[in-house]
Amino acid sequence: MQHLVDTNNFSDVQIAQLLHDAKTFKAQHPPQLLRDKLLITLFFEASTRTRSSFEVAAKRLGAAVVHLDPSKSSSSKGESLEDTFANLCAMEPDGVIIRHSENETPRLLADMQMTSVINAGAGNYAHPTQALLDLFTLVEHFDGDVKGKTIAIVGDIVSSRVASSGIRLLTRMGMNVILVAPKPFMPESDLPQFEKLEDVIEKVDVIMSLRAQLERHASAIFDDYAAYAKHYCIDHDRLGDRNILVLHPGPVMRNIDISDAMLQDPRCKVLEQVKNGVYMRMAILKLLLLDS
Ligand code: CP
Repeated sequence: MQHLVDTNNFSDVQIAQLLHDAKTFKAQHPPQLLRDKLLITLFFEASTRTRSSFEVAAKRLGAAVVHLDPSKSSSSKGESLEDTFANLCAMEPDGVIIRHSENETPRLLADMQMTSVINAGAGNYAHPTQALLDLFTLVEHFDGDVKGKTIAIVGDIVSSRVASSGIRLLTRMGMNVILVAPKPFMPESDLPQFEKLEDVIEKVDVIMSLRAQLERHASAIFDDYAAYAKHYCIDHDRLGDRNILVLHPGPVMRNIDISDAMLQDPRCKVLEQVKNGVYMRMAILKLLLLDS
């Protein structure tokens, strides 16, 4: 039984297979490879993209999907997470897709070895399917080779599971990763760190903008996000005509993370990332449920 807690669960050969399958599925919609499979989604935190992307991916491959809304489940009567998970597993799903605020939850459930566990985002530690769909978007843009390309991750890096998983995967793939953030948003890291985007903009091929995750801050870090935006919003004044790809995992705080105009710019691939997410999640489900 294979799980996806973080991308280090996949070998280099498996990551190459995922990129190949995602590209193939994007070129031609696949047959219903998972017709006899059943998945359960269990999201303890809000989601627009990841949950619906998994459902679309599973259904496009012919799998059935059941969603349990934790706010209406017996969690509200005091049932433990482990008991909720064990009861769902007693219904014999082929996998459980989980999002949770605690970093360790997907690992803890995977260790129970009851069904394949797929991490759809855990705390500020890991969001492996986002990292893989971002890699797919980058590989597609750079015609297959991201080695040696430089990406600046900009914004609330310390709160971001997208950044955590992305840093681990993109450095493994040979990319140079630079962190750009004001001090309160900067994690401890051996990677190059800068407070101003202007200091690195001439050497980056990609900017990954991140949302300030206000819901994860114990108290307000900035009184005024318009002042923050003056330094970190990705807009035409800042980018000029440079050939830089702009990514963001969503949700985008418009005109704080990325300007309205830049969201319309062909260099900005936010909706392409969402589209690619479906194909990458199809590839991930195929690998976990059929090929492992
Ligand atoms: N990128 C991402 O995880 O978005 P959602 O929170 O909407 O799933």
